[in-house]
Amino acid sequence: DKGNHRHFMSKEIHEQPEVVSHTLASFVDMVDETIRLPENLPFDWRNLRRLTISACGTASFAGMIAKYWFERYARLPVEVDIASEFRYREAPLEEGGLAIFVSQSGETADTLAALRYCKEQGQHTLAVVNVPTSTIARDSDVVVRTLAGPEIGVASTKAFTCQLAALASLAIGAGKARGTLSVEQERELVHALIETPRLMAEALHLEHEIESFSRDLAKASDVLYLGRGTSYPLSLEGALKLKEISYIHAEGYAAGELKHGPIALIDETMPVVVIAPYDHIFEKTVSNMQEVAARGGRIILITDAKGAAAASMATLKTLVLPEMPALVTPLVYSVPIQLLAYHTAVIIGTDVDQPRNLAKSVTVE
Ligand code: M6R
Repeated sequence: DKGNHRHFMSKEIHEQPEVVSHTLASFVDMVDETIRLPENLPFDWRNLRRLTISACGTASFAGMIAKYWFERYARLPVEVDIASEFRYREAPLEEGGLAIFVSQSGETADTLAALRYCKEQGQHTLAVVNVPTSTIARDSDVVVRTLAGPEIGVASTKAFTCQLAALASLAIGAGKARGTLSVEQERELVHALIETPRLMAEALHLEHEIESFSRDLAKASDVLYLGRGTSYPLSLEGALKLKEISYIHAEGYAAGELKHGPIALIDETMPVVVIAPYDHIFEKTVSNMQEVAARGGRIILITDAKGAAAASMATLKTLVLPEMPALVTPLVYSVPIQLLAYHTAVIIGTDVDQPRNLAKSVTVE
C-alpha cells in the first residue's frame, strides 16, 4: 500500500524518520544517552585488530561510511570492499577477526559468498540485515537488524539510512568497549543519534524546493556528485540513485580527486552536486567548487546555513539543511539526495519503483 504516495519510493523516503528511530531504539538507551550492544558477542572488541566490511551497491556505500566511523571513534582499521571483488581476491585474514556484511535482502549472492569465504578463514561474522529470515542472517554468528520494514522500491532508501543508524551505533559501541571514547564523547554522539529522526523530518521539508528544481536536472545528460569525508560515499550513493531511476549518467567522486581527471568533463552543461556540510574540511571542498565554477560548471550545493554563507559563490541552487554534528550528516543529507533523484525521475517519467533492467534482490552473480 502506497498510502498517499504516488510511488513506494516516495513513501519509503518519507518513512525514514520513523524507521531510523525504530532502528536506533534497539541500540540506544534514550534516557542515559548510551549505546547498548548485543550481549554475549563471540568476540571481544578490545582484541580486534581489523574489521572487514563487504556488501554490494548501496549497502557497500553504507559500509564505506561506517569505515570513517569505526576508524575515528573506535580506532579500528577497516577494510571495506564490494563483495564481488572481495570474494575472489583471496584476501589474507587474521584468524579471529571480525567481518561485517551489510545487506537489505540478506540474499545477495556475492555478499553471501563473501560471508562464506570469511567463515572458512576463521572470521567472526556479523550481518546487518533488514530481512531477519534471510540466508545471510541465518549463516552469520551475530545478526544486527535494521528495522526499515519491507522495502518495495528497487532503489534503496530507508534500508540505507537504517543501515547507517545500525552501523553508527556499532561504531560508538565499539569505541566505548575499546576505551577510545570517553563517557562524555559517547553521550554527545548518542545525543546526536537521538536527534537524527527529527533532523531527517526537517530535511523532508525541502521537498517542494527540490521538486521544482528537479526540472533543471532532468535536462542534464551527465551529473557529477562531489563530497569529502563521509560525504564522499554519499556522493557515490547520490550518483547511483540518480542513474538507477532517471537513467541520467552520473558519477560520484571524492572532491579531492576532481583535479585528477573528472574536471576535464566540466562545462556549462554539467550540473555538479556538491555535498558539503560546514565541517573541518569544508574550505577544501569550497576550493573544489571554485574550480568547477571557473569552468562554467553549474553547482548544486547541499549544505547548512554556515556553509551557505561561507561558500559565498553563485550556485544554480543551494539547499540549506539544519546544522548538526558530523556523525549524523550522512543520514540527514541522504534525504535531499534521494528526493533529487526521485523528482528528477518522476519528471522524466521512468518507472521509479521498478526501473528497467534492475531486480530488487540480486541472487545470481
Ligand atoms: O539486498 P542488498 O542490500 O544486499 O542489495 C545490494 C544492492 O543490490 C542494492 O543496494 C542495489 O544497489 C540497490 N538497487 C540500490 O538502490
